[in-house]
Amino acid sequence: MPDVAEPLASHWMPFTANRDFKAHPRLIVHAEGMVYRSQSGHRVLDGASGLFCCAAGHGRREIADAVSRQLMEMDYAPHFQFGHPSSFELAARLRALLPGDLDHLFFCNSGSEAIDTALKIAMAYHRAEGDGGRQRFVSRERAYHGVNIGGTSLSGILRNREAFPAVMPGVVHMRHTWLSDHRFVRGQPGSGAELAEDLQRFVDLYGASQIAACFVEPIAGSTGVLVPPKGYLERLREICDRAGILLVFDEVICGFGRTGSAFAADSFAVMPDMITMAKALTNGSQPMGAVAVREGIHRALTTGAPAEAIELFHGYTFSAHPAACAAALATLDIYAGEDLFARAARLAPGFLDRMFGLTDIPVITDIRGYGMLAAFDLAPGAAPGARGYAALKQLFEDGLLIKWTGDTGIVAPALIAEERDLDEIEDKLRRVLAAI
Ligand SMILES: Cc1ncc(COP(=O)(O)O)c(C=O)c1O
Repeated sequence: MPDVAEPLASHWMPFTANRDFKAHPRLIVHAEGMVYRSQSGHRVLDGASGLFCCAAGHGRREIADAVSRQLMEMDYAPHFQFGHPSSFELAARLRALLPGDLDHLFFCNSGSEAIDTALKIAMAYHRAEGDGGRQRFVSRERAYHGVNIGGTSLSGILRNREAFPAVMPGVVHMRHTWLSDHRFVRGQPGSGAELAEDLQRFVDLYGASQIAACFVEPIAGSTGVLVPPKGYLERLREICDRAGILLVFDEVICGFGRTGSAFAADSFAVMPDMITMAKALTNGSQPMGAVAVREGIHRALTTGAPAEAIELFHGYTFSAHPAACAAALATLDIYAGEDLFARAARLAPGFLDRMFGLTDIPVITDIRGYGMLAAFDLAPGAAPGARGYAALKQLFEDGLLIKWTGDTGIVAPALIAEERDLDEIEDKLRRVLAAI
């Protein structure tokens, strides 16, 4: 029986060392701009936009007011066979922001749901095209595509998969794109484009007629910012085109300015067939995800059957929740009004200068970065992840929050960051990592 007198006992926290956390809680109770306040009142600079969510900084009144207004006007409306105006407005606004003919938006509540939705759209699309034998999916080692069964199956990070052997069948993984000569390379490495040939090898092994889609994060984020080698994404695109495979960019981290453009598809000038997004879509203020789908896929799934027939048997009770739509619309207003994607492009060189300025710290074995996204690896300590966890705790004590995956620290400041914030991130990292 849990100790009911213990106020933290009952919440089983996600991706957390629960027992240690509850013995030494790091409770955050306030957020404004770039700064969190802990329950004990100490100031913590947010070096990770929360969890890659709050690109416009915290405490944005415009978003809170929009959500509040929407909830007072109408708290909820069902979205199966009914609708409300703001989801249509949001889809049109996103369509205008998206590259090429990614013209149709399917809404859900998280990145994980966006991935499962994209998997199902890919299967349904091929079936509608009379090509239903395409049931295999290609993903990549070190990928992170969320935690639902689909995303777990696509995932290429051992710890996220090993307890769940009964994941979706038919998923195969290309090699990840990190090579030892990429160490301390800033931006896109010059070598490694040939790793895209792994996709061709699966085509040669299984036959193109079995493969539905290839899922990649344009920059592999959670594993520690693996920037695609020059020419790699272009090569994936070519192979997909030749083999009739859909190319899905998972932009749950990369989307909304992180790479200095609206989407990484723009930054790398490669056009995917679907883009999954979440996180910064509402600036982290409401749970929301979406899948953007190219015109041809949507057309294949929505024409042919009688107009009264439901075209896609998929959706969530909270798909396009009115409060989430209001939050997303207010967020897009801020991104446009403050020109935050261009601001990210301007800030990125100085941000990366500071991150690569940490190269001399002995415990750092590699640094990678692109846009407003960077990561460094620490030499492992007593056990894998132990040094990273110690650094996480010490940095929080010293007033800096970043994202950790094992011994890899990931830095992704909000796009509203000032130079002084970037200085503070660098100073705090230097001080703590030099002593860890
Ligand atoms: C690339 C990518 N895809 C999917 C997800 C899952 O998103 P969520 O945690 O909102 O389900 C994440 C989360 O970090 C992600 O980074």
